[in-house]
Amino acid sequence: MKTTAFAASCLALISVVTANPIFSGGKKINAWKGGKDWKSKDIKDALKPAFFTSTYQIITTPDQVINGTVPTPGEPGAIGYYDFGINSKLDVICYDIVLKGVTGDYQSPAKTATHIHQAVKGASGPPRLAFPNPLPVSDDPKVTRYSKGCLKGPFTTGILSNGTDTAAGFTVAQIEANPAAFFCDSHTKKYVPGVVRGQLA
Ligand SMILES: *[C@@H]1O[C@H](CO)[C@@H](O)[C@H](O)[C@H]1NC(C)=O
Ligand SMILES: *[C@@H]1O[C@H](CO)[C@@H](O)[C@H](O)[C@H]1NC(C)=O
Repeated sequence: MKTTAFAASCLALISVVTANPIFSGGKKINAWKGGKDWKSKDIKDALKPAFFTSTYQIITTPDQVINGTVPTPGEPGAIGYYDFGINSKLDVICYDIVLKGVTGDYQSPAKTATHIHQAVKGASGPPRLAFPNPLPVSDDPKVTRYSKGCLKGPFTTGILSNGTDTAAGFTVAQIEANPAAFFCDSHTKKYVPGVVRGQLA
C-alpha cells in the first residue's frame, strides 16, 4: 500500500479500544476502519491541514488512570472519545474530544487539564500537549462535554521541568514514531491523577 496520508475528512470516531497501527510507506499510521464521517468535518480551524499523516481514535476509561505507578481509578462511569489527526510535516495536531459521565471542574497545574502525556501503559509521564478542556463543565454526569480544533508547534504546556516547558523540543512526529509511548487524559478536581486515560496505541 502506498498511502501515506489520510484525507482530513477521514478522521472519525469509531469504536476501537485502541488504534490499530499499520505500516505504510515505512511509517506507522493507524488504520481507519470506516464508519460515518462525522465531526472532523466540523473542525473549522485555520490550522487544519489538507490531510493528516496519521489519525488516532482513542477510547479513554477510568480504570487506566495511573498515579506514578499506582493504579488510581478515575470517575466511575466516565468515558472519553479522543480523536486526533496529525500532520507531522506541518507539526499540526487536530483534536476532537468528547467526554461523557464526567462531573465537576477541571484541575491541573498545566495551562489546561486535557493532555497528551509521554509514558507507556501503566506509567506516568510529563504532558507534551495541552488541549482546550471539553465544555461545558457541569456537575450533571449526563452533560456531554466537547472540545475540537487544531494546534501547531512549537507547543507549550505551562509545566516546567528543570526550568523548561515540558513541551520544549516536542513535535507531533514523536507521537507517530512511537504512539504506544503516549497517552491522553483529562484531570478534574475530584480525580486529579486523571478522570479517564487511554494509550495512543
Ligand atoms: C498520588 O501519588 C502521590 C505521591 O505518591 C500522593 O501524594 C497522592 O496522594 C496520590 N494521589 C492520589 C489521588 O492517590
Ligand atoms: C533535571 O536535570 C537533571 C540534571 O541534568 C536530570 O538528572 C533530571 O533527570 C532532570 N529532571 C527532569 C524531570 O527532566
